[in-house]
Amino acid sequence: MKFFIDTANLEQIIEAQAMGILDGVTTNPSLMAKEGITGEANILKHYVDICNLVDGDVSAEVISTDFDGMVREGEALAKLHPQIVIKLPMIGDGVKACKYFSDKGIKTNVTLVFSAGQALLAAKAGATYMSPFIGRLDDISTDGLGLIADIRLIYDNYGFETQILAASVRHTMHIMDCAKIGADVMTGPLSAIKGLLKHPLTDIGLAKFLADFEKGN
Ligand code: G3P
Repeated sequence: MKFFIDTANLEQIIEAQAMGILDGVTTNPSLMAKEGITGEANILKHYVDICNLVDGDVSAEVISTDFDGMVREGEALAKLHPQIVIKLPMIGDGVKACKYFSDKGIKTNVTLVFSAGQALLAAKAGATYMSPFIGRLDDISTDGLGLIADIRLIYDNYGFETQILAASVRHTMHIMDCAKIGADVMTGPLSAIKGLLKHPLTDIGLAKFLADFEKGN
């Protein structure tokens, strides 16, 4: 299972990379704005800065909603750095642009997926990654993890190679549930990743080992 961090915050990206478990980064216009990164030139520079900090794939989202605009933007983004993955919205022109980029061997991430039918379309268009937003489905009392399970079943039925990138992960249990279902990738906040470290018996056990060591010295 790949671990991506879902942020544009460089300090958090550096911390996750230093843990040695990071496989990539996802961003979106909201995460950029949250870090105060605005204006095209600054956003493009920020993508390059992120690529230079990590080893894996870095998703960079297009803003255009028409095919020509997505192709123009996506081609410019792909030229920024070899690690860039073009993030496209799950709309008709986004699917068309996904097919265009996958035919050219450029990696894609189809985002804002909320149904199994949308996931099927993304796979048919040859998406590298397809991002169902589980937290936002949970927010409206719909089973986000159930969607991941449905998509896993459908992709396995036909051997689709598109990777299920569980997105809008909000907490540690989301990560564990996605791992049980077999999501290929999860992207979440650093807090959810670090939550995997925690167990009170680990802390108690370590404190006892250290205390016992001290007794003998
Ligand atoms: O990966 C998608 C993500 O950035 C959306 O997360 O928490 O805004 O639903 P959230």
